[in-house]
Amino acid sequence: VSELPEGYKCRPLQRSDYHNGFLDVLRVLTTVGDVTEQQWNERYEWMAHHNDEYFLLCITDAANHIVGTGALLVERKFIHNLGLVGHIEDIAVAKDQQGKKLGLRIIQALDFVAEKVGCYKSILDCSEANEGFYVKCGFKRAGLEMAHYY
Ligand code: ACO
Repeated sequence: VSELPEGYKCRPLQRSDYHNGFLDVLRVLTTVGDVTEQQWNERYEWMAHHNDEYFLLCITDAANHIVGTGALLVERKFIHNLGLVGHIEDIAVAKDQQGKKLGLRIIQALDFVAEKVGCYKSILDCSEANEGFYVKCGFKRAGLEMAHYY
């Protein structure tokens, strides 16, 4: 994994990150909604309880403010000899911080975790506009996303 800019760090999400710009970074990706601190705490605690399945990472800048994030979900299968598959989700870098290789570092860090916990592959869905980014991260096109919204 290559270096981050001076003063930047990559670390797991913390409970206190409700007050540290995490949800604002996700807003560059999609609608987040109005998440109260209590709702945040409940979801955070649930994920923390499933910490062999949910891996949420953040990148902080020199002022310790969150500027990037990404998640890895580890799926346990019966097929492929009880294989584990990593699902990369919700990658986002703050608008004014894009183009500094932070997205690449997030993917490298999640890939590292996925391999370490024993995943035989990691997969993700993205738009055509982001395909080039994931190709630079070492991914290749493999299939088609289908969705059923409820
Ligand atoms: N198309 C082609 N190449 C790209 C793109 C793109 N859309 N974005 C970045 N790249 C290239 C960069 O030029 C760089 O190439 P280089 O090594 O030759 O210089 C390389 O990919 C790495 O780029 P980073 O600087 O690490 O990218 P950045 O930090 O800006 O993060 C990201 C990319 C995450 C897509 C960011 O632009 C972002 O947050 N966008 C809005 C939210 C979003 O779309 N997230 C992805 C959703 S898909 C998912 O979550 C699974």
